[in-house]
Amino acid sequence: MSKKNMDWANIGFNYHVADLRYVSNYKDGKWDSGILTEDSRVVLSEDAGVLHYAQEVFEGLKAYETEDGHIVCFRPDLNAKRMVESAQRLEMPPFPEERFIEAVEQVVKANEDWVPPFGSGATLYIRPLMFATGNVIGVKPADEYQFRIFVTPVGPYFKGGAKPITVKISDFDRAAPHGTGNIKAGLNYAMSLHAIVTAHDEGFAENVYLDAQSRTYIEETGGANILFVDADGNLVVPKSFTDSILPSITRRSIVQVAKDYLGLKVDERPVKLEEVSNFKEMGLCGTAAVISPVGKINDHGKEICFESGMEEMGPVIKKLYDTLTGIQMGEIEAPEGWVHRIK
Ligand code: PLP
Ligand code: COI
Repeated sequence: MSKKNMDWANIGFNYHVADLRYVSNYKDGKWDSGILTEDSRVVLSEDAGVLHYAQEVFEGLKAYETEDGHIVCFRPDLNAKRMVESAQRLEMPPFPEERFIEAVEQVVKANEDWVPPFGSGATLYIRPLMFATGNVIGVKPADEYQFRIFVTPVGPYFKGGAKPITVKISDFDRAAPHGTGNIKAGLNYAMSLHAIVTAHDEGFAENVYLDAQSRTYIEETGGANILFVDADGNLVVPKSFTDSILPSITRRSIVQVAKDYLGLKVDERPVKLEEVSNFKEMGLCGTAAVISPVGKINDHGKEICFESGMEEMGPVIKKLYDTLTGIQMGEIEAPEGWVHRIK
């Protein structure tokens, strides 16, 4: 076994076809035992439920090589659980949580050579997904599904890595109040594609979505939750009163790290757009984003500039970043159960 020969520092956030993926199919009311396969393609009937009524949910987590050569992943139990919740919301049969974790282990082990080396700046992104393969024509849930996990090595989600980005307040909504914003379903991202292309065309890295009901409160971005640091150095985390923010595993972990490792006060509450100019630092957090600093928000031409500026991460966001990534890579002792050893 030897590592793939890749320019790990410059791979970006792109798909590379790794060697093996895990596939299990659901038929006649049960999931089959699952296999590892070389076949990266999916062949579907033209009448498959996913193609018509978007019955698809997914997850994202990462595997890391530690300094002493082990391979670990971060809190896969929470991805397994969130995928069950996403599936239930879309009337799909949940994939059992313990089998999810075993499948993650199998795929990562089978693609060990694709795990980027410790310290390379890259990680192995793990993408579990589940979709309706069974035929439907009337609007109803299908009765056959596929669960699949593939992996791909990735670098930073935003170009420039730790360099602060500029985001815009979007005129589009990501999620309806009490809709599907709190689950990880492809349909939420389909909603965001025109908005992200528009934002990129205008020179912004991401969209900040407001609550769709009052368009007053900050919710999240297209692919990450939001963190602020207030003038007293406290962490302020936007909370949705219409339950339309994805419950980010990274964000929930950061809240605990902020309190227990850094002794910060954490305020999880609805955050109005109009109060954001009082904050000192902003970051986006998620599996792909890790913690990406934001230097500036553009609100319809009005700029909200954070004190931390456009050159580097603010001091509190940096401390959170260093502590979280230190835990994920095995350099800082993790809370019980957070770091899952695969090899
Ligand atoms: N919000 C959205 C819309 C996302 O797509 C993601 C990515 O998974 C997150 C937040 C962050 O969630 P997590 O930290 O569980 O990856
Ligand atoms: C993740 O962070 O895992 C996601 O799914 C976000 C996506 C924008 C890549």
